[in-house]
Amino acid sequence: MSVLIKDNVITLHTKNTTYQMAVNENNFLAHLYYGTRLDDSVADECGKMNYHTLMPLVYDSKTRELSPNVCPLEYSAYGIGDFRTTPLKVRFCDGSSVCDLRFHSAKYIDKKPILNGLPALHDTNTESQSVEVCLIDNIHDLRVYLLYTAFEENDIIARSVRIENHTGKDIALEAVLSTCVDFYEDEFDFITFDGKPFSERSMHRTPLMDIKLTAESRRGSSSHQCNPFVIACSKNCDEKVGSCYGMAFVYSGNFTASMEKTQIGTTRFVMGINPENFTYLLKDGEVFQAPEVIHSFSNSGFAKLTHNYHNVIRKNLFRGKYADAKRPILINNWEATYFNFNSEKLLAIAKQAKTIGVDTFVLDDGWFLGRNGDGSSLGDWFVDEEKLGCPLSELITKIGELGMKFGLWFEPECVSENSSFYRQHPEWVLQAPDRKGVLGRKQWVVDMANPAAVDAVFKMMADILDNNNIEYIKWDFNRYLTDVYSHALPANRQGEVHHRYVLGVYNLLERIHNRYPNLLIESCASGGGRFDCGMLYYTPQIWTSDNTDPLERVNIQYGTSFCYPIISMGAHVTASPNHVSKRVTSIKTRSNVAMAGTFGFELDLTKEAEDDIEILRSETEFYKNYADLIRTGDYYRLTANTNRYIAWQFVSGDKHQSLAVLVMQKNNIDYKPIIQKFSGLQSDLTYRVIIDGIERERLYTGVALMEIGLNIRTVKYEGESTRIEILAV
Ligand code: DGJ
Repeated sequence: MSVLIKDNVITLHTKNTTYQMAVNENNFLAHLYYGTRLDDSVADECGKMNYHTLMPLVYDSKTRELSPNVCPLEYSAYGIGDFRTTPLKVRFCDGSSVCDLRFHSAKYIDKKPILNGLPALHDTNTESQSVEVCLIDNIHDLRVYLLYTAFEENDIIARSVRIENHTGKDIALEAVLSTCVDFYEDEFDFITFDGKPFSERSMHRTPLMDIKLTAESRRGSSSHQCNPFVIACSKNCDEKVGSCYGMAFVYSGNFTASMEKTQIGTTRFVMGINPENFTYLLKDGEVFQAPEVIHSFSNSGFAKLTHNYHNVIRKNLFRGKYADAKRPILINNWEATYFNFNSEKLLAIAKQAKTIGVDTFVLDDGWFLGRNGDGSSLGDWFVDEEKLGCPLSELITKIGELGMKFGLWFEPECVSENSSFYRQHPEWVLQAPDRKGVLGRKQWVVDMANPAAVDAVFKMMADILDNNNIEYIKWDFNRYLTDVYSHALPANRQGEVHHRYVLGVYNLLERIHNRYPNLLIESCASGGGRFDCGMLYYTPQIWTSDNTDPLERVNIQYGTSFCYPIISMGAHVTASPNHVSKRVTSIKTRSNVAMAGTFGFELDLTKEAEDDIEILRSETEFYKNYADLIRTGDYYRLTANTNRYIAWQFVSGDKHQSLAVLVMQKNNIDYKPIIQKFSGLQSDLTYRVIIDGIERERLYTGVALMEIGLNIRTVKYEGESTRIEILAV
């Protein structure tokens, strides 16, 4: 049993961790413990901190009831003296915002409930157990349901919150965060994954300070600048040692994640929808469901934490045909042609791609009416046969005759000013009354908070998908949200638009997913501007970044790998010199880096020399041999990304097969030998080692490879890379 409710104590166990809370003497739901598995122990020592001496503010002098400000709480509302970030803020109909949440009841739940309209971890085989705790305000009948689910095998605790208004009046929700954990210590580093377009998800490690540290997005999507995955870790934490807590938000819009030290040596962590630009009118009898946060804990460093997330995302977040199946090796025409193509050109690329082992051709931006640049036609999802030189179905048939599948690009959430969509329905874009608004990449954002607009986009997409044999779509989104006003909502609901926008996107994705269950969707947002667990529920791969220079891509993939499975990262071999950085790199390095992702191509193969085509062919062949390992294996970061080289490794579940890659980021001018140790092997197994196709004469034990390592002599200069196959004999 991984969930226990006993003597006012609620315990959730996973294989290696325990999460515990208790109803305290004042009927608050107090946090007791989150960390290494406790088995039968109750962490009641934690509840006995001597608050009296520390905190002069007593809640009630007669009962000596203590201020909630010093109580480690599972959830807390604004107004009664908890001066930390309170996850809930409610404005009642009388204008007051004081809310006092006390424990009401707790119950087991066998099957993890679906979170209405929201992505969330799902239970594939009753491997999870849940508990739902109800807190109630002591004056108004406002009920707060905290849902906790333990996924035992992968050390995951998923949390979400549901608010029910039974007050008899309408209320306004001004903040509803999804989780709150009060840790009984304050010596943490806060790790965030921040960046910008072309350098998404760089890892930053900041020691916890006396001021609050926050990662957040206010751009309407999870954004390039901050990612809704953060880690709180001990000072000594690295890949193999130390304790670390991960928090991943299953949501694709504005978010906040903050850590805040307190005067009593505890730390409050919260995560949820960013309360900035959020208010939600909840009518009497209505329910508000806040999105899920996926928590995990490892007491043996980041590698274990990463494995927990990779495993649970692959098993319990991905859905559909490709949740657990080989992904296609695709070629995308974007960097090959940009907007300048016709079917003849596309077919020539596809033909050459087939010869190197590619199985899917993806037609990117520019295939619909009049779209010859980024200034027009978004929203008019009708095939431009004149530009293509034939109907789309004919192009798809010809691609099919080559033995390839076909994929198509959409940007469903945006419209150009120069489009019939906008001309016919200007009220279906986000635009405040009497203001023209701000264009981004010359386009407006469809009001996804308006079901009529969502329907219209769905119909156009369905028309294309129903009438053509399309097996993949790339779902792009190339701007942030401004002018956040929906003409479909009254004035007092405009604070809901950001959230309703995200729900509208999810609704459209869900409808597409249900109608075309075999379709693979890869999402994208000007590169990797919306890489989060919310999108992964609908689109099990996401274009990682528009930066495909391998020496920079490795840093982006490094940061992304902490939470997100390798098979979720769209990664392509592109041309050299690279279109963004102009750097020249070898095919081998470009493909070694793309193999730490979905592996595909995005270049004009008709312009590649025959020798290079031959190399691309053998690289594809090599990838195919390891595709299952890369997709399902355990991933280890062998170095940080601050060395003169960066290395990573995949190890199969049975530890019989492993592949490591090492990429030089700087010249090794001091001739320091590279002695690379490996991870995750079985100590007493004997392995063959093949470096860049050449097998070493001797054999190695797992323990020797992990503790002594190999002297790598195949790389020396910036941009060189090497791969090491480690195979049990
Ligand atoms: C941005 C994406 O990141 C690119 O891969 C490409 O699809 C363009 N949009 C097309 O406009």
